[in-house]
Amino acid sequence: MWVSLGSSGFVQHGARVVIADIADEPGAKLAADLGDQALYVHLDVTSAAGWQAAVATAVERFGKLNVLVNNAGILDGGPLGVYTEQQWRRILDINLTGPFLGLSVARDALVAARPSSVINISSAAGLQGVAGMHGYTASKFGLRGLTKSAALELAEHGVRVNSVHPGGILTPMIAGLSAEAGQAGVDRARSTLERLGLPEEVTALVVYLAGEESSYSTGAEFVVDGGMTAGTSHS
Ligand SMILES: NC(=O)c1ccc[n+]([C@@H]2O[C@H](COP(=O)([O-])OP(=O)(O)OC[C@H]3O[C@@H](n4cnc5c(N)ncnc54)[C@H](O)[C@@H]3O)[C@@H](O)[C@H]2O)c1
Repeated sequence: MWVSLGSSGFVQHGARVVIADIADEPGAKLAADLGDQALYVHLDVTSAAGWQAAVATAVERFGKLNVLVNNAGILDGGPLGVYTEQQWRRILDINLTGPFLGLSVARDALVAARPSSVINISSAAGLQGVAGMHGYTASKFGLRGLTKSAALELAEHGVRVNSVHPGGILTPMIAGLSAEAGQAGVDRARSTLERLGLPEEVTALVVYLAGEESSYSTGAEFVVDGGMTAGTSHS
């Protein structure tokens, strides 16, 4: 999971991190490997109560919460008529309602800890459509919109909110592309740089957005996609 490299990247920069996921075993192992600066909590991002517990734990353990990375997500696909309402609702629930709940619940803690930064992990699929990935594309476009409405509202409270748009990154998500997602998923992984990205190439950008080096950026889209969305090289 990307969170593993993301978390170690943050810890390397002196941050104390709460790793929140439903994958308890790898999450707990990761936190143990990172030492006293990291803590694992079980969090299903679709649960407001879960978010409340996670935020309370972060503030209790580390004194404040000044960075929130909404990274949890799932990927699926299928053509219209085959892709089910259940799939649609589930992916929106995790990929879009999850970050909304995170922002809502963490808001007061982030304001109290200002200057604070929220990084929403959208996708290249939040900038351009992907055939056969209706739920994923809609969720990632939605997250891009939520980023902007939250950025506008929270600016005066010292909280910046930005979205990150990775292209194909070598993580278990790509490995798990279903047959249903088909060619669209494979095409999605193609980039101008003709390779998949590495998780640490996303981590570097997220760490930058978390810190004060990016203090003049909010409500903005940060692309790390190997040129995937630059256009077509065919004449
Ligand atoms: N890998 C890529 O090519 C790529 C490209 C663009 C965007 N992204 C985005 O990056 C983020 C991280 O994806 P990844 O590639 O590391 O995939 P991943 O599958 O390795 O990691 C996703 C993580 O989300 C967790 N998760 C799933 N449902 C959850 C829930 N309900 N509550 C809490 N946690 C939950 C999983 O347990 C997993 O640890 C996702 O939002 C994804 O959409 C990935």
